[in-house]
Amino acid sequence: MAAFKEEATEHLLAAAEQENWPSGGVKIEVRDLTKVSEKDVRILNKVNVDIPRGAIVGIIGPSGSGKSTFLRALNRLWEPPYGSVFLDGVDICELDVLSLRRRVGMLFQLPVLFQGSVADNVRYGPQLKGKKLSDDEVSTLLTLADLDSSFFSKSGGELSVGQAQRVALARTLANEPEVLLLDEPTSALDPVSTQNIEDALVRLKKDKGMTTVIVSHSIKQIQRIADVVCLLVNGEIVEILKPDHLSQAKHPMAQTFLNLTS
Ligand SMILES: Nc1ncnc2c1ncn2[C@@H]1O[C@H](COP(=O)(O)OP(=O)(O)O)[C@@H](O)[C@H]1O
Ligand SMILES: [Mg+2]
Repeated sequence: MAAFKEEATEHLLAAAEQENWPSGGVKIEVRDLTKVSEKDVRILNKVNVDIPRGAIVGIIGPSGSGKSTFLRALNRLWEPPYGSVFLDGVDICELDVLSLRRRVGMLFQLPVLFQGSVADNVRYGPQLKGKKLSDDEVSTLLTLADLDSSFFSKSGGELSVGQAQRVALARTLANEPEVLLLDEPTSALDPVSTQNIEDALVRLKKDKGMTTVIVSHSIKQIQRIADVVCLLVNGEIVEILKPDHLSQAKHPMAQTFLNLTS
């Protein structure tokens, strides 16, 4: 018990050495998070990490290492065991799952827009709670996602994948999330759209203190935007590093992975 707490604190300390570090404490605590498949394979093995409030945390690792499973545990798309994930100190299993997913929003590799206009998509979440966003509010959300108001009335079919991904981001932001979970959000996008999304994420951190956990196959992307990087190998976080110190990774699998992908 004490050992993993100590380890998780170390992670936070490593992260806190960053310059201009937001001094907000821990947003999400992950304690001994384990998932065993039906075939008795350990998909996640005792993952312990503190996600600092207001930080962008990058997750990298080989395919099949458990990155998506880890991310999905943080908003109960996969139901983690009781006592393993805490949001602001509260076990997420004790929270209403829909409210949790508003507070902890998620974007996937490929955006799926609903029927209707861009504005309809952005209004969707608040509408479920009986709130109708004004045109100005919709435009503000589009701006946060690096889209101008000319997109307001467009339909999903008129958009590129990169634009649709930014609409999906605006739609998620409409729920006023405290945390964003991003699962390879730019891997289907061209370089310009990728930069638009990265700019939006950095601005959200600066202006709103957003906490972001981003899985990426691109080490360069992680180096551009993340404050701290977790290397996940075979369901275990084997290293936590600063983005500009990735070459200091000691774990043999981590080194192999970094050499192959950098
Ligand atoms: N629902 C599931 N049941 C059984 N195995 C799964 C399930 N989801 C994922 N896995 C397995 O867990 C491992 C990790 O998957 P995943 O989290 O998608 O990895 P990554 O996102 O790093 O590629 C893979 O070996 C995958 O086949
Ligand atoms: Mg994945």
